[in-house]
Formats: sequence, structure tokens, C-alpha cells
Amino acid sequence: MKSSSVLLAGVLAQYASAFPGMGNTRREAGLLPLKPLAKAVTTSSSASTNYPPWHPPQTGEGTSSSFAEGDHRSDHHIVRSPCPGLNSLANHDICPRSGKGYTIPILTDCLKRGLNVGADFALVVGTAGIGSNPNPLTSGLYFDLDMLDRHDFLIEHDGSLSRADASTGNNYSFNQTIWDTVLAYYSGMEDAAIPVASKARYNRISTEAARDPNFSYSPVQFILSYGETALYLSTMGDPITGVAPLEYVRSLFEQEKLPYELGWQPPKTTTTLASLGAMAIQLNAASGEQIPEGVILGENSLKAVLIGLNAATGEIENNAVYSLAKLTGALGSVTSALKGLTSL
Ligand code: HEM
Repeated sequence: MKSSSVLLAGVLAQYASAFPGMGNTRREAGLLPLKPLAKAVTTSSSASTNYPPWHPPQTGEGTSSSFAEGDHRSDHHIVRSPCPGLNSLANHDICPRSGKGYTIPILTDCLKRGLNVGADFALVVGTAGIGSNPNPLTSGLYFDLDMLDRHDFLIEHDGSLSRADASTGNNYSFNQTIWDTVLAYYSGMEDAAIPVASKARYNRISTEAARDPNFSYSPVQFILSYGETALYLSTMGDPITGVAPLEYVRSLFEQEKLPYELGWQPPKTTTTLASLGAMAIQLNAASGEQIPEGVILGENSLKAVLIGLNAATGEIENNAVYSLAKLTGALGSVTSALKGLTSL
């Protein structure tokens, strides 16, 4: 039968030689320099200023007054999500600035243009996103960014890197206090990389598990949480090595801004389900966190949970999302996902 540890050992051996950059994180003495982030690069010859302008939502923009000041969902015209990646893309109007009406084709196009994230990931994560729409069959196959706040409807989960748990606070807005506990792991470093990112992620899970009486952490959330750390390392850095300048990562989380002004460009290598799955395996190995019974972490389990399947058995677990996957076309990839999950 399945043996995740044997598989893990094999995959790790395979990857150890493929990532010579791992472990080369530059360390400097002293504290993390908390300097302003939006500092333009001064070497003008190669640095392009030809990038999409950044306009975060303004408090009071639009007509609604139903949200508190500072709430990033502060009007009915501009909505945002618990996801720093999507919020950043919307703030540059790469994905729709309104934060509304995200269909699979729109998402596929803007993830590719903005972050060089592949259509394979856009299809399955978009399907899960549409699952957060309360009425996708009557309203149309889309989601608005604020719909993604729905707790435990697949993607939004406890133990986030930069948001509070749903039962203890605001699970959608950036939370500096929580994020500081992640940054503390990077003290004195210039780059984020797999070994430290992994420990910082696991600390967030352990911290909330200990203090949130309603903490929930199913295999779905286990897998997606690894995927999210892999996403920031991949898009702010490199989808193969997972090394990302810390200033770029901070810009993404703290300002929800793509760090063009700091010299960032979308990675040349596309981030795919396969690259995310491979990085999730490495992240898990670095944290030593126990893998849920029966789960084989990697591309197939990431794909499976995003289309409503049980990551261990391949059985239908979330009927709503599974039904949507038939409509969006994401189910087309189910056969291979099932083959990867079971010994069939
Ligand atoms: C492809 C570009 C993307 C990047 C770089 C990205 C990055 C991230 C990161 C780093 C987090 C963790 C935030 C934290 O723990 O504080 C996150 C969370 C989240 N993302 Fe994304 N994401 C991307 C695309 C998407 C898409 C397409 C969706 C939905 C369709 C999505 C939905 C979410 C949700 C709901 C969360 C909250 C999970 C939680 O509770 O922590 N993301 N994303």
C-alpha cells in the first residue's frame, strides 16, 4: 500500500542534488531591517519603470459604508480577499481591480501575466474559488475576492501566516502582529528560502493549535497551507529553488504590491501544480511535521483537494466543489490525480 515516508525519501534524494542553491540563505548579524519597502531601484539602465501602476483600495472609495475604516473590503465596488497574491494582482489591475467577477479564463490570464503561474493551477484553484460563491450555479461560474473569506470552505483556514484565525479575529485583513512572528524567523536574512519558510509556517500552525479553541486543521488545510508558502517562495523568487528576496516577500504581504520598484520581475520559470507539489514536499521535510495518515503530499494531492477529493483516498469529499469541477473542466485532470493517489 501507500507509504508516504518511502516516497518522501525517494523524492528528497532526487531533489537534493537538483537544488544546489538550498541552504545558501545569506545571513547577516543583527535584526531584520524594517526599512520602508517601496524604494525605487537606482540602477536605471536595466530597471524598467514600465510596470502596471499600483492603486490599493482607498477607504471610502465607492459607496458603501458598511465596513469599518481600515477594512480592506471597505466598499462595495472594490473587494479584496485573505490572499496577498490575488490582492496584489488586483491592486495593479492585472487581475480585475474591482476584485469581482473572477472566472477561470480571467484568472488564468491574469495569474500568467502577473506572476507566471500556470493554467493548470489556475484551473483547479479557480474551481475551488468558485466554490466559495454561495450561488455559483445561478449567478455564474465566478467568484468575488471577498467570497474567499468563507472559513473552511476549502481554502480559507486557520494558522495563516498573516491573518488571524476566523474564530479569534479578522481572517481576511493583513495582521502585522501575526506576520511579525513569521518575520522573526528571517531575522538577519536577506532571502526567504525553504528551510526557514517551513519552520515559520509550522510555528503558525502550532501557535494557533495551542491557543485557538476552535482551531481546525484537516488534511485539506495541511496541503493548502504548504501550497501557500510554496506560492510566495515561487512567485517572489524561484519555483525551483524556492529562494526569494525577503523584501519582495514583505512587499507582497505588507503592501499587497508586486515589488517591481525593488527590481522584481515575474519569474522566468512557470509555477505549476508540479513545481508547487515538489516544493510542498521539501517544505514538509524541513519542518518535520507529521503527514496526515494516508496522504501523499505533492502535485496530485494538491490537485485533488482543490477539486473536492479526499487527499488520501481520492474519494469525493466536497460534493459542491466536485460538481463545479465537472463544469469548469477541472475534472478532466481527475483521472491522473486518482491514479497518483491510489494504487489503482
Ligand atoms: C497565483 C498566485 C497566488 C499567490 C502568489 C498566492 C499566495 C497566497 C499566500 C502566500 C497565502 C497565505 C496567506 C497567509 O497565510 O497569510 C494565500 C492565501 C490564500 N489564497 Fe492565495 N495565492 C495565489 C492565488 C490564489 C488564488 C487563485 C486563490 C483563489 C481562487 C487564492 C486564495 C487564497 C485564499 C482563500 C487564501 C487564504 C488562506 C488562509 O486562510 O490563509 N489564492 N495565497
